[in-house]
Amino acid sequence: MKSIKVGLLGIGTVGAGTFNVLKRNQEEISRRAGHEIEIVMVADLDVARAKELVGDQCAVVNDGNLVVANPEIDIVVELIGGYGIAKDLVLKAIANGKHVVTANKALLAIHGDEIFKAAQDKGVMVAYEAAVAGGIPIIKALREGLTANRIEWIAGIINGTTNFILSEMRDKGLDFDTVLKEAQRLGYAEADPTFDIEGVDAAHKATLMAAIAFGIPVQFDKAHVEGITKLEAVDIRYAEQLGYRIKLLGIAKRTPQGIELRVHPTLIPSKRLIANVEGAMNAVLVQGDAVGATLYYGKGAGAEPTASAVIADLVDIARLADADPAHRVPHLAFQPNSMADTPILPISEVTTSYYLRMPVADEVGVLAKVTSILAESTISIDAMLQKEPALGETQTDIIMLTHQTQEKNVEAAIKKIEALSTVLGKVTKIRLEHLS
Ligand code: NDP
Ligand code: HSE
Repeated sequence: MKSIKVGLLGIGTVGAGTFNVLKRNQEEISRRAGHEIEIVMVADLDVARAKELVGDQCAVVNDGNLVVANPEIDIVVELIGGYGIAKDLVLKAIANGKHVVTANKALLAIHGDEIFKAAQDKGVMVAYEAAVAGGIPIIKALREGLTANRIEWIAGIINGTTNFILSEMRDKGLDFDTVLKEAQRLGYAEADPTFDIEGVDAAHKATLMAAIAFGIPVQFDKAHVEGITKLEAVDIRYAEQLGYRIKLLGIAKRTPQGIELRVHPTLIPSKRLIANVEGAMNAVLVQGDAVGATLYYGKGAGAEPTASAVIADLVDIARLADADPAHRVPHLAFQPNSMADTPILPISEVTTSYYLRMPVADEVGVLAKVTSILAESTISIDAMLQKEPALGETQTDIIMLTHQTQEKNVEAAIKKIEALSTVLGKVTKIRLEHLS
């Protein structure tokens, strides 16, 4: 049995998970791959810690260049993260004719087109199952399992850290910072956790899914990105009262005008399966024209769930390494000469439903003024909640759910509503998706 030699760049959370799972399940994995898969060299800045992790089973160096230049190595696994040294080493590995496996969604969402082109030209594979939704094989599903379909939309809880924060805050009443620290301790959060909480990490993943679902280039710069830092507990409570949960969703949707690519807190009906995905779990809902809706659920972060996806890529490459490159699955699911230039729509052109909360004076006629502004803007109301003012208070909240409309209509109506003298503060707007 031929042995496939692997070089590992970075042995942190995911790197250590990969090393351990590969060692533990070596026999099963070899039986599936038809090859032994062996990590022969590890590069990490902390050589002492790396040596403690791998023992004397393979060489440990502090310079990734020694890994990508090692002629013995067939596959380089990049688990450093970021777009600096990681990009440099990935491109060098490709130039040296090595296949690459990476979990680095940030790198691929920004530089994916360049990296895939370099790999295509060199006839090597770049595999990235772990880059989206951790252990869930969503790349495999989109690129291969659903290949008969015209994908209509994808909506996913694709950041474990933020889902963990939202769940813990709601269920245990814990504060934001405490839960974020716990997510960091558990190895879910990115090196820079603002990527998680500001929605950037989810947008990296949504960008990659949009590219493979619709056969378009990787265009992170066109994604609309909002995180959970501005979300208020009061809106989570009101949403629950109206029968909805708030989740940070990554959405990629095909419309006649173009593609919607957006990440933001979203109200989802509580009865939907995806609304009940809690903790660091991820779930991705994919609507295809032939198959209908399919839902993929599992651990989206953490050492071994992510290692599961990294090793699946290693096995895929081991099986296909000797195949004619023309017979491999294209990096972005569609043949490189068949990519589409469908535009990505600005957020003002997006069509969805809305949750609006407005603080108002408890006076006769307020509601009539607000509803007439919405009617003038052809925005129809789906549900409404008006709270009794607290004892001794003269201010209260009106909450409205709208039917579908374009974002620019809602923005224009909000401006007019905020200008009313009886509306006492900013209108809170959260998008709502029925996912039906
Ligand atoms: P970690 O920070 O835990 O690990 C990164 C490792 O790379 C560290 O050991 C670090 O060493 C090492 N490193 C940094 N710079 C270099 C360098 N120049 N040369 C060699 N080694 C270097 O990150 P994770 O394991 O969490 O993440 C790795 C990748 O996987 C990222 O792209 C991340 O987005 C992605 N990912 C992570 C998931 C998770 O659950 N953690 C899930 C899915 C994807 P040192 O610590 O000494 O700086
Ligand atoms: N920081 C990411 C998350 C890791 O929390 O989902 C998995 O990509």
